[in-house]
Amino acid sequence: MNKLRAAITAVGHYVPEKVVTNFDLEKLVDTNDEWIRTRTGIRERRVAESGATSDLAVPAVQNLLKNRGIGAEQIDVIIFATVTPDMFFPATACVLQEKIGAKNAWGFDISAACSGFVYAISVGTQLIETGAYKKVLVVGADKMSSIMDYTDRNTAILFGDAAGAVLLEPSTEETLGVIDHKLYSDGTGGQYLYMKGGGSLNPPSHETIDQKMHYLVQDGKAVFKVAVMGMADVSAEILERNKLTGADVDWLVPHQANLRIIDATANRMGLDKSKVMINIDKYGNTTAATIPLCLSEWWHAGKVKKGQNIILASFGAGYTWGAVYVKWAY
Ligand code: COA
Repeated sequence: MNKLRAAITAVGHYVPEKVVTNFDLEKLVDTNDEWIRTRTGIRERRVAESGATSDLAVPAVQNLLKNRGIGAEQIDVIIFATVTPDMFFPATACVLQEKIGAKNAWGFDISAACSGFVYAISVGTQLIETGAYKKVLVVGADKMSSIMDYTDRNTAILFGDAAGAVLLEPSTEETLGVIDHKLYSDGTGGQYLYMKGGGSLNPPSHETIDQKMHYLVQDGKAVFKVAVMGMADVSAEILERNKLTGADVDWLVPHQANLRIIDATANRMGLDKSKVMINIDKYGNTTAATIPLCLSEWWHAGKVKKGQNIILASFGAGYTWGAVYVKWAY
């Protein structure tokens, strides 16, 4: 029997209207536009002035449904990747289900930080491949501004808010769709990128607030070193195991954490920069949203075409990292 494949059949994205430039941040912390641009590639980011992460996802999904020409009630499963859920529970997938009216779906959240979308697409792909489900909505969305310490120049400059989504369906052509995926995690990296407060380890208290435990903390230098290696290694691995070279790849869609990490990954794959989706300059690091945001922006610009070889690659807190090989289906 031929293998049932999962294909991406629609994309959508949303970014909030408010733009925060590097110059705006100069007024909040001791930093400057030149430092931020040369060390990270970021010029500006978006910040949601109200609402929660699910409110970023709603217009992204509505955009996707319109592109596909289907109603929300046709969705079977919602997988929501985020580290800024609306609440600990219920799952943001359930909140989104109610808001979009996906009344026939079940859903759950995935917490894998910047690798959340890559993890979620791997899980969603396997739900389609079993034959059990026909329409799996995979969302990557984060309101990073809700866990940002805007007095800490090490982190405040890096992150932004956004949402992206893709729809997975059984592929109508056996050679098209999600061909391969490879995921990793390494819990020893947890000490370098985390948010310590609010969970069962440090339940909210006056003390946790005073100690700023509800903000993201990162040892940038430590994470940088492993992120460069991790993202480049897994991208090279997915090429090798599918007998591809850089010349065969049409698009690399890297997680947008730092332009220098993206460049290193492209170099390792032997890939020309013109084949790399980069929008970190406009949005910064939007955690689980970076990859679907890129896919949707490039698709809307008419640059993603049927049959193209596309590699998604990420590295994030956990540590978590992974890559996905997609042969674009529509
Ligand atoms: N503006 C100006 N100076 C800053 C600054 C800012 N916003 N942030 C840090 N600095 C200073 C530091 O204090 C340090 O000063 P010192 O040498 O006097 O101590 C100097 O700049 C260099 O800092 P460093 O942390 O070594 O910079 P870097 O080149 O490593 O860049 C990051 C910092 C965060 C941009 C980079 O390490 C990074 O991108 N890390 C990985 C992020 C990532 O991939 N995360 C995983 C996915 S979320």
